Amino acid sequence: LTETAAAGTTRGPAPANSAAEPLFLRACRRRPVERTPIWIMRQAGRYLPEYRALREKHDFLTSCRTPELACEITLQPVRRLGVDAAILFSDILIPLPAMGVPVEFDPGPQIDRPVRSRADVEALATPDAREATPFVMDAVRMLRGELPPEVPLIGFAGAPFTVATYLVEGGGSKSFAALRGLLFGEPETAAALLDKCADTIASYLVEQVRAGAQAAMLFDTWAGLLAPEDYRRFALEPARRVLEAVRAASPETPRIYYAGDAAGQLEQCAGLGADVVGVDWRIDIAEAHRRLGGGVALQGNLDPGVLLGPPALIRERTARLLRAAPAAGHVFNLGHGILPMTPPEHARALVDAVRELSAARRER
Ligand code: CP3
Repeated sequence: LTETAAAGTTRGPAPANSAAEPLFLRACRRRPVERTPIWIMRQAGRYLPEYRALREKHDFLTSCRTPELACEITLQPVRRLGVDAAILFSDILIPLPAMGVPVEFDPGPQIDRPVRSRADVEALATPDAREATPFVMDAVRMLRGELPPEVPLIGFAGAPFTVATYLVEGGGSKSFAALRGLLFGEPETAAALLDKCADTIASYLVEQVRAGAQAAMLFDTWAGLLAPEDYRRFALEPARRVLEAVRAASPETPRIYYAGDAAGQLEQCAGLGADVVGVDWRIDIAEAHRRLGGGVALQGNLDPGVLLGPPALIRERTARLLRAAPAAGHVFNLGHGILPMTPPEHARALVDAVRELSAARRER
């Protein structure tokens, strides 16, 4: 890892004036930037041969729980792609075992004893993250020592609603019938579950920030599942509690909220208390900007499928997205995680295209 630190990023030397505030953080704060920053959701993962090589020796949970491994995997895409932010290598379900719910990955998450009843919810613990997941805070501290100063580290957690979907379903789902049964059949039990998720996740995200994470991101992948009034009660308000805890602990740290498939909830997202709202590709970014208003920055929102096409298409779609997005207050990203079959050169072509085209746009 010492070699890694010496090598730093292989691309994109920081101009002297950005030493004070990295590009990514400026964009989160809607300050002027000389070009649009980019990072990629799931940038550390199976599409990278160096990730697959490490995973041959260590399973997924071991990789998450060993700070040296989590640190090394976090740095892989920073070295290869020259992205403008690093995201801690971990998973949104890492806090669950300390709540009393063991999780396995194969590669998707599997929970043998899902949370289904009032008694199940009452049995859940709400641990302090420093005791429950010290390896995460160690990885954050280690990464701050290894990352070049122009590449900020994003800490993250699952939003309470999205984490609750896994707790109740026991894994992924198409219909989310167990969860919906709880929300509408036993709303008080559901509310108690979401409270416990919010408490646990608030501690988990706040401690990452205290350990050195420079931005705090909440993933609400399943935000699009609910009607607006149910979204407000079961997803938005619990997420607001987590973001408010982060704000109270560290007011200057940008808070990012990713809302999957949430075109129906954007106006509500605008008032959440996030500095940045991440959107997927199902909505045009100009429309998302209009509906979110000027009070938040945007993150997104290229279809991850585009990276399976040729570099010329990647460049064309990137140019189009940059034209539609606001020049200040935009963090370029995919609309969801990069697909495992993506050629790494295509990810690199995307990063290059964003750098060149967004800088050229500002020169005009
Ligand atoms: O973005 C990054 O590079 C950081 C790492 C990261 C992972 N998961 C690693 C991972 C992040 C930010 C997550 C978030 C996450 N995890 C979300 C929210 C974002 C999203 O994608 O919607 C969700 C819903 C999960 C739960 C989860 N973990 C699922 C559904 C899966 C299986 C899907 C898949 O890609 O196979 C996981 C496993 C997982 N998390 C892997 C990785 C790299 C694959 C495991 C492996 O390497 O075998």
